[in-house]
Parts: sequence; structure tokens; C-alpha cells
Amino acid sequence: MFVKLLNGYITKQRTRKETDLMTGYVAFVFLVIFSFQTNNMKKYFILLGVAFGVIILSNCSSAKKTAAAIPKSTYTSGVSTVIMNNCSPCHIPANGGKKKPYDNFANVKTDIDEIIRRIELEPTVKGFMPFKKTAKLSDSTIAVFKKWKEDGLLEN
Ligand code: HEC
Repeated sequence: MFVKLLNGYITKQRTRKETDLMTGYVAFVFLVIFSFQTNNMKKYFILLGVAFGVIILSNCSSAKKTAAAIPKSTYTSGVSTVIMNNCSPCHIPANGGKKKPYDNFANVKTDIDEIIRRIELEPTVKGFMPFKKTAKLSDSTIAVFKKWKEDGLLEN
């Protein structure tokens, strides 16, 4: 009954698109108090899950509003330039690179997890990229790869 009510509330909220963060937090606080009173661990975790769900949903709707302001990262608009600047010549055949080519969307997309794993290694660890460099890429450069992944690995 309670969950049904809550579901109705969420659906209504999303279609109306007038979500604000406060409602999520109010629901969260309410649910935490409520779940402490039940004194039942299983119930407690379920309710906590629901509460987080509410928060995530309200965050999503507010994120949608800001989505227009923060453009999604794409291969063409971001990652390709960073690769050209940091992974050349080795991974850029046109520059004489003999390693796996990262001059194209398909390869970079397929290998993105391995790319992120390697650029986050310490430079002394085997497998670190960019190969032979003594310092990691800057945090903001690493963030370009991660944001691209978060945004859904778009080409353009
Ligand atoms: C100086 C040359 C050089 C540069 C610059 C370089 N790499 Fe590499 N890369 C290599 C070599 C050599 C290998 C193969 C050895 C290995 O796997 O560790 C390799 C392998 C890789 C692999 C594994 C590919 C496979 O076959 O699965 C990934 C992923 C990778 N590099 C990512 C990068 C990224 C991302 C950059 C830029 C930030 C970069 N590398 C810069 C030389 C380089």
C-alpha cells in the first residue's frame, strides 16, 4: 500500500516534470525514520533502497534540465583530440604507430575499459599508458575518457 502510494507519487512527479530535490530528501528522511521504527532489518534495507530510488529519480529529472547546458561528450568532440595529443605516435598509424590503432571510433569504443584501466595505473606498473611516460595523464585528461564512457560512448 505504502509502496503503491510512493510509486504513484514518483510517476506523477516524473510526468509533471516539476521535481525538485527537496521532495526526494524529505521522502528519504521520512523513510529512514519510518524504517527505524519497523525494527526489522530486511524491511529496513528495502525501504532504504526505495528511498535512494526516490532520490535518484529526482536527481535524474533535475539532471535532465541541466543536460541542455552541459553537452554530452562524444568521440569527435573530445576523446579523439586527447588521444591524438597523448597516444601518438604509437597508436596512430598515420604517424607511424605500430600499436593497436586508436585513430578510430570503433577501436576506442571497444577498448574503453582497458584504456581507462591503463591510464589510471601508476607509471611504474606494467601496462601503464602512455607507455614509457613517467607521469600519469592529468586528472582532467583522464576525466575526458571517463565522461565519454558515462555519456554512453557516442561518436558524434
Ligand atoms: C610510446 C608509445 C606509446 C604511447 C604514447 C601509448 N602507448 Fe599504448 N601501447 C604501447 C605499447 C608498446 C603497447 C603494447 C604493450 C602493452 O600491452 O603494454 C600498448 C598497448 C596499449 C593498450 C592495449 C592494446 C591491446 O592490444 O589490447 C592500450 C589499451 C593502450 N596501449 C592505450 C594507450 C592510451 C590510451 C594511450 C594514450 C593515453 C597510449 N596507449 C599511449 C605504446 C604506447
